[in-house]
Amino acid sequence: MREILLKPTLNKFLDFSSFAEEFILDENDLVLTNEPIYQFFMEPLQLPCRFVFQERYGAGEPSEEMITDLFADIDQDSYSRVIAVGGGAIMDIGKLLAIRRTGSVHAIFFKEAPVERAKKLVAVPTTCGTGSEVTNISVAIVRGQAGETTKLGLVSDLLIPDDVCLIPDMLRTLPYRPFFSSVIDALVHAVESYLSPSRATMTSELFGVKAIEMILEGLRRVSENGSEARLEYLDEFLTASCYAGIAFLQAGCASVHALSFPLGGTYHVPHGESNYLLFGKVLEKYDQIDPDGKLAELKQLIGRVLDCPSEDALEEMAVLEDKILPLEPLHKYGFRPEDIEIFADSVLENQQRLVVNSYVPLTRELIVEIYTELL
Ligand SMILES: NC(=O)c1ccc[n+]([C@@H]2O[C@H](COP(=O)([O-])OP(=O)(O)OC[C@H]3O[C@@H](n4cnc5c(N)ncnc54)[C@H](O)[C@@H]3O)[C@@H](O)[C@H]2O)c1
Ligand SMILES: [Fe+2]
Repeated sequence: MREILLKPTLNKFLDFSSFAEEFILDENDLVLTNEPIYQFFMEPLQLPCRFVFQERYGAGEPSEEMITDLFADIDQDSYSRVIAVGGGAIMDIGKLLAIRRTGSVHAIFFKEAPVERAKKLVAVPTTCGTGSEVTNISVAIVRGQAGETTKLGLVSDLLIPDDVCLIPDMLRTLPYRPFFSSVIDALVHAVESYLSPSRATMTSELFGVKAIEMILEGLRRVSENGSEARLEYLDEFLTASCYAGIAFLQAGCASVHALSFPLGGTYHVPHGESNYLLFGKVLEKYDQIDPDGKLAELKQLIGRVLDCPSEDALEEMAVLEDKILPLEPLHKYGFRPEDIEIFADSVLENQQRLVVNSYVPLTRELIVEIYTELL
């Protein structure tokens, strides 16, 4: 069994200025971020780096067009290190700015051009969800053969950042909804890797369990003490999302991500939110089909943290999440009955890397059932 436990060096800083000082940010650094994050945390420091704001190239999650425009604007030879400061979108684009441009963005994503690392990459996550700072994946909305859009993950160990810098202070400005959507994304990473039938490793469970415990404890505190309680728990939320990233780097994500990708790709539902829409239903199906496998251990674990019998654990977790972010049906996001079959085909055609990690076989029939019941 081959295992990359952790490729980047992990660092933790009290604030952005301590990070900038320690990493000696200079004019050869390309800092990819969002303008509000720049204004709040970086502008006062008057750093000599080149700053690029992702939103100048289009709103939302990375797309083939957005990355193509970024490549056209930023000369590959004009920087020696990439500093990605932002959510998963920024991390994922930062990974692409650190590789050699061996072909078009489309060619790289569809494996017609190789991934070759060219620059140093430092990842500073400012959401507590994706774990992208430690993973070997970059996700983008791409165009398929028939011109349809979907999300696709480019996977290569050469995408893993060199340094990860966790700065919990930077989560202070993240608004409530993206904050908790990203927390639930991290919970999904931890749960999907915990249940991964064939790729779990010596350490994925260790990090997955710890992430699940820390995240559920944080959600419980916020449900009992109100949204401000998250501010006392920023370090734990950020650390847990990094742990969940380490877990899924080994064991992989699965059905929740596979089914959420066409939703995100077509209706631009933010990543964490689209996972949340599917999470409870997917676990409910797992429980109907194979309640006695690893899922039984997961229910015990959740029951222990939420202080409830394991047979109520999935329901209690769903109630807790719903208190923090009320769950909506898919049609509220634009999903239509005619999407069910199209999305089911797209999952099976484009998301095999995730489908193969499903806790129970993810058949077309099961996919259709899940989308239909969530409509
Ligand atoms: N590569 C991986 O391993 C991996 C894993 C999961 C998800 N992803 C990708 O990550 C993306 C989602 O990432 P995300 O959930 O972090 O959201 P995001 O990166 O899309 O950010 C959400 C919003 O929050 C804002 N924001 C981020 N940090 C902020 C802060 N501290 N203060 C104020 N505003 C802030 C951003 O500007 C953006 O508007 C998707 O594109 C998804 O496909 C990648
Ligand atoms: Fe995710």
